[in-house]
Amino acid sequence: MSKSINTSVDIGGVRLKNPVMTASGTFGYAMEFDEVLDLNVLGGVVMKGLSLHPSKGNPPPRIAETSSGMLNAIGLENVGIDRFLSEKLPRLKAYDTKVFINIYGKTVEEYAAIAEKAEGVEGIHGIEINISCPNVSAGGLAFGVDPVAAAEVTRAVRKKSSLPVMVKLSPNVTDITEIARSVEGEGASSVSLINTLTGMGIDIHTRKPLLANVVGGLSGPAVKPVAVRMVYQVANAVKIPVIGMGGIMCADDAIEFLIAGASAVQVGTANFVNPDAAQRTAEGIEAFLKEKGISDINELIGTVNLDR
Ligand SMILES: Cc1cc2nc3c(=O)[nH]c(=O)nc-3n(C[C@H](O)[C@H](O)[C@H](O)COP(=O)(O)O)c2cc1C
Repeated sequence: MSKSINTSVDIGGVRLKNPVMTASGTFGYAMEFDEVLDLNVLGGVVMKGLSLHPSKGNPPPRIAETSSGMLNAIGLENVGIDRFLSEKLPRLKAYDTKVFINIYGKTVEEYAAIAEKAEGVEGIHGIEINISCPNVSAGGLAFGVDPVAAAEVTRAVRKKSSLPVMVKLSPNVTDITEIARSVEGEGASSVSLINTLTGMGIDIHTRKPLLANVVGGLSGPAVKPVAVRMVYQVANAVKIPVIGMGGIMCADDAIEFLIAGASAVQVGTANFVNPDAAQRTAEGIEAFLKEKGISDINELIGTVNLDR
């Protein structure tokens, strides 16, 4: 990255060299992507959702393409926090990027237990709490749609962890700012949004749902305007940094989120289309700053022009 332009941002106690991160569940444990992009150019990487115990997730089909998006009901397949710490994390230390774990529990106690296991472990720079997964039968979304439950999970993780805590919000609510304010009140360092929108598709020939789970989460370009709207609303409702995501396919999309008020962004579904999408996004943002003569990316954040 060029010396003359500052692309670094602070997201609640973690400084990223640029605002581009990868979104949980779309980028594995990051090192799988080592051969297709330079992980060192990314601001941060968010790990696939981790639970207390390994999980196989839902039965297939678990992914389906839709108009301008995809439906998924992976159901949080993962190796569990212990194997992540012993097998995956050591290999990530080779890269100059910030590593965030994404955690998921069926109960408040499970969230707290995972956070406790990660406490003091070298190489983890922050925790993203997933209170917004629509694809698991217990917990998950239940915490994300209730401000009291969302606050409770945040408080429990905060108690066990000295790491910055990013709370990932669900778009499947009437008023997302209410949940954002609630977790801010419990010491969340930042909020990230949006997780997937609940959706469903049906094969008209077999009349079967596209996903074995029947319903799943919609992501990709189809959700971007919803995500930009929510980022804009949340950025105006809380003082902590907002990390925006939902349908970011290129640098222009990411810049839209920054202008809406996001201090950083996450690239998700785009990784399935172009595995180097996050790198291209980071490079494209810097090119945009250069083109516009902006010397510090922070001058761009939250600058939506409401004049008509
Ligand atoms: C296949 C798939 C798996 C996902 N797994 C997780 C997960 O484990 N934890 C989580 O918090 N979000 C998960 N998400 C949600 C994404 O991180 C992101 O919030 C969402 O897809 C919106 O961004 P996008 O449109 O750029 O993909 C997953 C999304 C997809 C498509």
